[in-house]
Amino acid sequence: MGSELIYRGHDETQPLPDSYSPKHDKPLLSMTRPIQYMLREQRLVCVLIGIAIATVFFSILPSKTTPYGGSRSGSGYPFDTMTQHENALSRVEEYQHRAAYHRVLDSGAAKVPLGLKRKGLRIVVTGGAGFVGSHLVDRLIQRGDSVIVVDNFFTGRKENVMHHFGNPRFELIRHDVVEPILLEVDQIYHLACPASPVHYKFNPVKTIKTNVVGTLNMLGLAKRVGARFLLTSTSEVYGDPLQHPQVETYWGNVNPIGVRSCYDEGKRTAETLTMDYHRGAGVEVRIARIFNTYGPRMCIDDGRVVSNFVAQALRKEPMTVYGDGKQTRSFQYVSDLVEGLMRLMGGEHVGPFNIGNPGEFTMLELAQVVKDSIDPNAKIEFRPNTEDDPHKRKPDITRAKELLGWEPKVSLRNGLPLMVTDFRQRIFGDQKEGSSITTTAAS
Ligand SMILES: NC(=O)c1ccc[n+]([C@@H]2O[C@H](COP(=O)([O-])OP(=O)(O)OC[C@H]3O[C@@H](n4cnc5c(N)ncnc54)[C@H](O)[C@@H]3O)[C@@H](O)[C@H]2O)c1
Repeated sequence: MGSELIYRGHDETQPLPDSYSPKHDKPLLSMTRPIQYMLREQRLVCVLIGIAIATVFFSILPSKTTPYGGSRSGSGYPFDTMTQHENALSRVEEYQHRAAYHRVLDSGAAKVPLGLKRKGLRIVVTGGAGFVGSHLVDRLIQRGDSVIVVDNFFTGRKENVMHHFGNPRFELIRHDVVEPILLEVDQIYHLACPASPVHYKFNPVKTIKTNVVGTLNMLGLAKRVGARFLLTSTSEVYGDPLQHPQVETYWGNVNPIGVRSCYDEGKRTAETLTMDYHRGAGVEVRIARIFNTYGPRMCIDDGRVVSNFVAQALRKEPMTVYGDGKQTRSFQYVSDLVEGLMRLMGGEHVGPFNIGNPGEFTMLELAQVVKDSIDPNAKIEFRPNTEDDPHKRKPDITRAKELLGWEPKVSLRNGLPLMVTDFRQRIFGDQKEGSSITTTAAS
């Protein structure tokens, strides 16, 4: 019995436990099978076409997730935990990277194949329903950008931007810049601030608050989303200048406690904040110092000399000249200003840059041009001068000419008639002289 059992255990047909048994060639088969599957019925061609489409799609789509864009939300700025040296290096690198990024965006060369249109930027314009802002918005929309206007309508009007309603690339937000706002944008043009003496003196505390808190908020936004920031400062930062014409290196002669200080000193502080965010937080900034500008859509009774003279001459009222009328101003047509602002934003220089027309006119000479354009019999009425009224104002624009390739093109005699047409329509509701006023003027 016992031997029988032993015999069965060594049956020749059973393989020995450690004997070699060659495996089937299954893995080779399992590798060739998918290849055969792909080759069948032109599936490979379909896969290759899919890869090609994906490659083209992702190379056309400019990447929005820039290295600084993703990691810089809120106060999560890494500066706090670094040494000063590392901070400085990191800021320089980040600044250089961002500058390169914006250069590519502005040049429109962001991997856009020939024949395809450049992808527009997302831009916020604070004060975009005002005089200058609305003309800037027109140009940006025309260029193909998407524009968000932020305005509290203190001096701005919906009528100035109404022609963009319904355009998917245009948005209008009623908002006061003294309150924070979060928007995802590439560029910020910060214009929000009443600009005429009548309006900025109306509530001086609000004016300085707008300049300081409003500018802080917009700079905070620029830092948070990695946007480039442009401040529209003013020639008023030179005060009653002791240097003529005014060069950007001149520090000015400003009364810090006068009735105009809410505006002058407000803008000076806004410039300081702008440079501190640039130096301290690596925000890309631009500063424009704007000189007197005129054109369609200016507020009619805002006390600025060109709008005053034009409105008075049209209404057959005497033109009011304050003082002896020998104080000088330079007058820039609005399309020239908008061109200067866009060049500054798109360029590589921080500024400040004087943006104005160096052509200098006394108030009496200006009154004469208005008389020639509207009514040769218009009268002039002299009144005592207002407090802190500067005697002379004329920009030196050498820097803008050299570094931005910009200079004004529209003369006062060519620009004024366009403004007169607009004012005539708004004062008398006269629609005969052309239904839409544009900023274009012959030079
Ligand atoms: N026009 C000029 O001659 C001139 C000269 C120098 C500087 N600037 C500057 O250019 C910018 C635009 O000037 P403008 O002539 O178009 O003036 P504007 O008064 O026509 O426009 C200012 C705009 O800002 C808005 N605004 C004011 N306070 C605001 C706030 N707290 N929040 C949100 N919006 C607010 C107004 O409603 C208006 O739409 C201003 O910053 C001004 O200081 C203009």
